[in-house]
Amino acid sequence: MREGIDEPQPIPSLPGHFQHSRDSLRAEVDQLRALGVGAVLLFGVPETKDAEGSQAWNPDGIVQVALADLRDDHGDEMVLIADLCLDEYTDHGHCGVLDTTGQPDNDATLELYARVALAQAQAGVDIVAPSGMMDGQVAAIRGALDETSFADIAILAYSAKYATALYGPFRDAVDVTIAGGGDRRGYQQDVANAREAVEEIREDLAEGADMVMVKPALPFLDVIARARTEFDVPIAAYHVSGEYAMVHAAARLGWLELEPVAFEHSLAIKRAGADLICSYFARLLAERLQ
Ligand code: PBG
Repeated sequence: MREGIDEPQPIPSLPGHFQHSRDSLRAEVDQLRALGVGAVLLFGVPETKDAEGSQAWNPDGIVQVALADLRDDHGDEMVLIADLCLDEYTDHGHCGVLDTTGQPDNDATLELYARVALAQAQAGVDIVAPSGMMDGQVAAIRGALDETSFADIAILAYSAKYATALYGPFRDAVDVTIAGGGDRRGYQQDVANAREAVEEIREDLAEGADMVMVKPALPFLDVIARARTEFDVPIAAYHVSGEYAMVHAAARLGWLELEPVAFEHSLAIKRAGADLICSYFARLLAERLQ
C-alpha cells in the first residue's frame, strides 16, 4: 500500500508485486480470494514520514483505510493481517523512536506500538503482526488490546526475526533506508544463533502471542523444525523478499525454472513444520493449485 498514488507502482526488485493504491489493492484482494488465498498481510508506505512514525497510528493512515476497505469488501471471508512496525513511517528508517545516541529507545517505542495496534484494531484488523523485535512488544500490544474492546484480536509475533541480508528487496519496496548506514543488529537476531530464537519464542508466548513467526524461512529451516517440536502453537514462516528475488533473478537469466523452485521452497518450509507461510509466491502457487 502506498499513500497518495492513483496507479499501482511496480516494485522492480519484487517482480510481479506492486505498491498498491486503495483501488488496486481492492481489486488484487478480490482476485486472491477467488483463487482461494485466505489471508493477506498489509504493509504501508505513508506520504509523509517523521521521527516518531506517527502516520502509523493515524486513523486515516494508509493501512487503516485499506483495512476498512477490505473488511467492507470481504467481511469474515478474508483474514486481514497488518504488519505492526514503524520503519516504513519513520524518517530515519529504524523500527522505533531514537534515543539521544541515535539508537531505538525500546521502552518509548512500546507505547507507540500500542497506539498502532489500537488504530489497526479500530480499522478492522484480525491479526496484528509486530515485526520490530523490541523487548516486551507483545505484552505492550496485548495489554493495549485487552484494555479496550479488542481482546479477540490475535497477535502473530515475529519472534525469531534474523538480521539477515535477505531483506534487501523489501527495503526498496517500502522506501526505507536506515539513516547513517545503520543496521538492525541491535534488535534483530544473530544469524549464527539458533538457541536464542527458541528463547525469543518462549518469551513472546509468555507475553501473550497467539502465533509465532520465523523469518527468513529457508536459511532457518532448522529453527522452524526446532520451534515445531518445542511449541504447540501455530508457527508461521516468512519467505522473504531476498528469497523470492533470487529465484526470479536466476530464472530471468535462464539458470533455473521459476515454478518448480517456488514449489520446492514452499514444500521445504512446510516439511520443516510451518503451519502458515507468508510468501510473495502466494498468488502464483494459488493459480497453479487451481
Ligand atoms: C519491518 C519488516 C521488514 C520486513 C518485514 N517487516 C524489514 C526489516 O526488518 O528490515 C522484511 C520482509 C521481506 O524482506 O520480505 N517492518
